[in-house]
Amino acid sequence: MERYSRHVLVCTGSFCSPDRRGRALYALLASLLEREGLLFGPTRVKRGETPCLGVCGGGPIVVVYPDGIWYAGVTPELLDRIVVEHLKGGRPVEESVFHRL
Ligand code: FES
Repeated sequence: MERYSRHVLVCTGSFCSPDRRGRALYALLASLLEREGLLFGPTRVKRGETPCLGVCGGGPIVVVYPDGIWYAGVTPELLDRIVVEHLKGGRPVEESVFHRL
C-alpha cells in the first residue's frame, strides 16, 4: 500500500445526522482532497466512511488520524477548512474540535 500521512473517517450514519449529511460530505471530501493535491505522494490523505463513530449526536462527525482530532457538526464549508487548514496546513480548526486523543 502507498504511504499516506493522514486518514479521515466520515460518519455517514443516521443517528448523529438524521438527514445523513455525512454521505454528501464523504463525496465532497474526494474533490477537496484532489483540489488541494492530497490524493498522491507523501502528503496523501486516505478517506473512509463508517456507519457510526460512537458519538451519535451533533453530526456529521469527522475524525482525523493519527492526530486523533474529532470534529462535530461538519458542514461543507467546515470540511473545506479542515482540508485546507488541518490536512494541508497542519493546523486543526480548533473552534470546531470537540474531542481529541
Ligand atoms: S451515527 Fe454518526 S456517530 Fe453514530
